[in-house]
Amino acid sequence: MKAVASSNLLVCPACRTDLAAGPDGLVCHHCRQEYPVKNGIPIFFPQGLTDSDDHKEAGYWNKKDNTTDNLYENMTDAAFRSLIHKFGLPDNTRGLELGCGDGPFAKRLTGRNMDIYGLDISFPLLNLTENMKPVQGSALDLPFRDMFFNWIIYAFALHHMIDLEKALKESLRVLDVGGKICIVEPNYYHPIRFITRRPDTMLRQRFFSYLSPEERWIPMHRLNKILRANGVTVTEYDFVTPEFKSRTLSGRIQKTLGRLFNFFPAAAVTQSYYLVIGTKHR
Ligand SMILES: C[S@@+](CC[C@H](N)C(=O)[O-])C[C@H]1O[C@@H](n2cnc3c(N)ncnc32)[C@H](O)[C@@H]1O
Ligand SMILES: [Zn+2]
Repeated sequence: MKAVASSNLLVCPACRTDLAAGPDGLVCHHCRQEYPVKNGIPIFFPQGLTDSDDHKEAGYWNKKDNTTDNLYENMTDAAFRSLIHKFGLPDNTRGLELGCGDGPFAKRLTGRNMDIYGLDISFPLLNLTENMKPVQGSALDLPFRDMFFNWIIYAFALHHMIDLEKALKESLRVLDVGGKICIVEPNYYHPIRFITRRPDTMLRQRFFSYLSPEERWIPMHRLNKILRANGVTVTEYDFVTPEFKSRTLSGRIQKTLGRLFNFFPAAAVTQSYYLVIGTKHR
């Protein structure tokens, strides 16, 4: 059975007021907005975003509910564990994975005495999560109190957010001072990203149809700049190519390039992903 996020720890994403338990779920003390709870998962959808299949991004992810660990080019168990090792998350903490999908990180943090929440727009994916309290909503309007978490993971998800700065500011609002933010993103400078960077091109639609309609790559320097401007000290960054199970042409190119040129500065263009870890200092 799933752990359920307690109603008195959540807030209304529209007005940030406390919620009370109502007959069909949760209700906001202030604006009276009602939020249903389905299968123990509180549903927070701000106006203009729905989890329906006709909402481009949610619809894309909702169709992936028959698979686990298979969302993003099928990363191996060892690759997930290696990223968790790099994150260096402390025990006895409360954490949040944003855009958690089916929750591959939380699943691998079992036994670590952590209170883990996961937020995603896709209900079918949240239904597959383990070892976390799943919450359906948008990372752009979080239903959590200020400074509620000791750490946040944003893995392969930030570039799906339609407003990058808003998403980052919102995640930093709910992160405690001294808390850690760990971000993994596709490497903008990698050649494969160069040819896939525009969602509306025929090349991308025809040969890279596994990419979701919203995703577009974020240069690492831009991300770091936004983090610094919002009170984060970037403590670590790295370029990595996680091991994938899938044998797509694009996957093979990424793996070969990564193996050949894993030294600085070549790593900055030949490794397929990057990792940024920061600490919130104000
Ligand atoms: C590539 S998947 C990554 C999932 C997971 N972090 C992993 O490593 O497998 C991107 C996820 O972002 C979610 N997503 C997209 N837009 C979102 C939003 N505005 N708020 C929350 N999640 C969102 C999608 O539903 C999807 O599960
Ligand atoms: Zn409200």
